[in-house]
Amino acid sequence: MRGARILGTGRALPPRVVTNAELTTRMDTTEEWIVQRTGIRERRFVDPGTGASDLGVQASRVAIERAGLTPKDIQFLVFATLSPDMFFPGCGVLVQEKMGMDTIGALDVRTQCTGFLYGLSVAEAYVKAGFYDYVLVIGAEVQSTGMDLSTAGRDVSVIFGDGGGAAVVGPSDPGRGILSSHLHSEGKYARELMAEAPASIEHPRISKEMIDAGRHYGTMNGRYVFTHAVRRFPEVIREALEANGMTLSDLSIVIPHQANLRITQAVAKALEVPPEKVFSNIEKYGNTTAASIPIALDECIEEGRIREGDIVCLAAFGSGFTWASTLIRW
Ligand code: UT7
Repeated sequence: MRGARILGTGRALPPRVVTNAELTTRMDTTEEWIVQRTGIRERRFVDPGTGASDLGVQASRVAIERAGLTPKDIQFLVFATLSPDMFFPGCGVLVQEKMGMDTIGALDVRTQCTGFLYGLSVAEAYVKAGFYDYVLVIGAEVQSTGMDLSTAGRDVSVIFGDGGGAAVVGPSDPGRGILSSHLHSEGKYARELMAEAPASIEHPRISKEMIDAGRHYGTMNGRYVFTHAVRRFPEVIREALEANGMTLSDLSIVIPHQANLRITQAVAKALEVPPEKVFSNIEKYGNTTAASIPIALDECIEEGRIREGDIVCLAAFGSGFTWASTLIRW
């Protein structure tokens, strides 16, 4: 079977920077609390009129160009987001239309923080099997319109930000590119990190009472998520290495989902790898859920932190709970 590798990446960050200082004017919080507990100094919020699909399109244009392709060359696309432009249809078809692509298949993935890695695994399988040559994978989020920016929502809303990232996957020699994907879920924890509404089990799906009760905002059992994350990240990274007959010393860099700087530091400690081997950019963008890994990957490439032959591990944990890793020989 042929291999599958990432041919190009791109990212899109809305221009509006929201600092911790700005958040202190909207809720009872402090710059110190946010930096100490999360490592975040600022994040981006979109202006009205920009949806997750727009950030996805912007990131995709760059990724496709860097892959040396045009939108017409893309044969299938996967869009991962928890914040689609509308309840249905998903963002995939909006990207197809906005980019003037042929009537290719467009798949939406809803696994939140692991969405990009789930999407990448689909691209990997399709390309390796020869089903498609060029698959576009997008992770993009507009969190800012779904957060309670008052004191009642402060534990969630200081963490999340808006952004988009994309990667084009295409054929490679066997043994080069994506070596394996490892995907997990544990739905018994679904309610520990969720946005409950609109909800098809409610009649109607959304009502004034539900909105007044804030049931359309994301809620999170932060400590619970934290505890599971620091266990699952190292576990799924080790799983990837073992599956490929490698050890931690083979790793050039880990690019984790940017959940919280303390989680990233705990992962480095648990794996006993130097902190500089575990990439972090959360201080600039906060947690951008499905977008955080492709944004981080794009920055790593731009900063020259990934060279040909490097072993790169992408890893994520989040709502679902879901967790995943992707091991790549660059
Ligand atoms: O992408 C994956 C999804 N999410 C995550 O990975 C997040 C995982 N969890 C976390 O990152 C952390 O649990 C948080 C950053 C959310 C919270 O940090 P924590 O150290 O677990 O704090 P806590 O929730 O235990 O709250 C400590 C205190 C509480 O006050 P009391 O009860 O001790 O008086 C909170 O009310 O901090 C208070 N608090 C805040 N204070 C100022 C909560 N949010 C804020 C805030 N500003 N924004």
